Amino acid sequence: MPEPACCLNAVNPNSANSGLANLAANQGANLDADLGAAGPGAAGLDAVKAYYGKTLRDSADLQTKACCCSESIPPTHRAILSEIDEEILNRFYGCGSPIPPALGGCTVLDLGCGSGRDVYLASRLVGPEGFVIGVDMTGEQLAVARRHQDSQARRFGWPRSNVDFRQGYMEDLAALGIRDNSVDLVISNCVINLSPAKERVFTEIFRVLKPGGELYFSDVFADRRLPQELRHDPILHEECIGGALYIEDFRRLLRGLGCLDYRVVSRSRIAIGNPQVEAQAGMVDFYSMTVRAFKLASLEDICEDYGQVAYYQGGIADHPFQFGLDDHHTFVTGKPMLVCGNTAAMVEETRFGRYFKVIGDRSVHYGPFDCSPAAGGKPEEGACGGGSCC
Ligand SMILES: C[S@@+](CC[C@H](N)C(=O)[O-])C[C@H]1O[C@@H](n2cnc3c(N)ncnc32)[C@H](O)[C@@H]1O
Repeated sequence: MPEPACCLNAVNPNSANSGLANLAANQGANLDADLGAAGPGAAGLDAVKAYYGKTLRDSADLQTKACCCSESIPPTHRAILSEIDEEILNRFYGCGSPIPPALGGCTVLDLGCGSGRDVYLASRLVGPEGFVIGVDMTGEQLAVARRHQDSQARRFGWPRSNVDFRQGYMEDLAALGIRDNSVDLVISNCVINLSPAKERVFTEIFRVLKPGGELYFSDVFADRRLPQELRHDPILHEECIGGALYIEDFRRLLRGLGCLDYRVVSRSRIAIGNPQVEAQAGMVDFYSMTVRAFKLASLEDICEDYGQVAYYQGGIADHPFQFGLDDHHTFVTGKPMLVCGNTAAMVEETRFGRYFKVIGDRSVHYGPFDCSPAAGGKPEEGACGGGSCC
């Protein structure tokens, strides 16, 4: 069994390339195709900028349904969306709803924030004590986001704006002044697929997250590596299909950075909705997935049984009766559940710790943990979609 690494130790904060070096050493050339060596590169970034800055005026201009949010939006979020300016909403190109609960007072970073829909949603949820930074490389998108900064703060009743928009690349957050260990939550909505250097993005994410912090993002994933001609097709790439992450390469990528377990929160198949694109890429199944990964030193590469029990004590807004950690762990309020060491860490050593009680520690080991749905909760589509928790 490989030596367990951890998100904290594996990422050298002094070197943005450390993850790349790690990855190359650990995974060989297989992943290069997914990391930009054979991808669209810097020229591709300019094309993406032009697409989201100039070609698209609103979501009706999209040519496929990949960048259309198909996930159900919680009622509280719907209510907040009704307080967000129409111009911002019209330029929303997300594929999910990457806003987890328990955000009061948090510092949130939105990668590829576009016109700012999720930034403003998070702004309302973190409250005036929290702060949200939106990063995007496209000036036109940020111009829309910034135009509403003061009026949104007034609408939410904040004494001053609790958001900041920074123009630049998610591959180099240091250049935007985002420090090591400074962010509670990184979110992103249908953006990472567009990056020609995905390992740099994830390296940066784990650099800026505080210990115990969370990455929670929605993106387009594929059930296989895409053929070169699809990866290089401009429309497929710009519409978030050509750069879709193959789920197993994503797992390897996180693993190479020392993050040994991630969890799938939701997954739905994308109906492309464009006959021409379907004719080109019909052999691939694409999914919109929302995924969470924590920066935790204690995660192991498979679920291990230490006889630990966890229960949700309630207290998270909008979650009085249950809390869903992922697609196969639903904690019913007050009901003890046997959990593996990784799940115990995710609910105890993160911002969720104040809402959970974990009984037991890792002093006694009982072997691998059966994290099948019977042990872990109700199965949904792709119940075993997590990093190691299957
Ligand atoms: C599909 S849109 C999604 C926008 C936003 N997340 C939303 O849900 O409306 C992709 C956005 O990511 C931005 N983007 C793409 N690649 C980027 C990169 N490498 N660095 C920063 N922003 C990027 C684009 O400018 C665009 O605004």
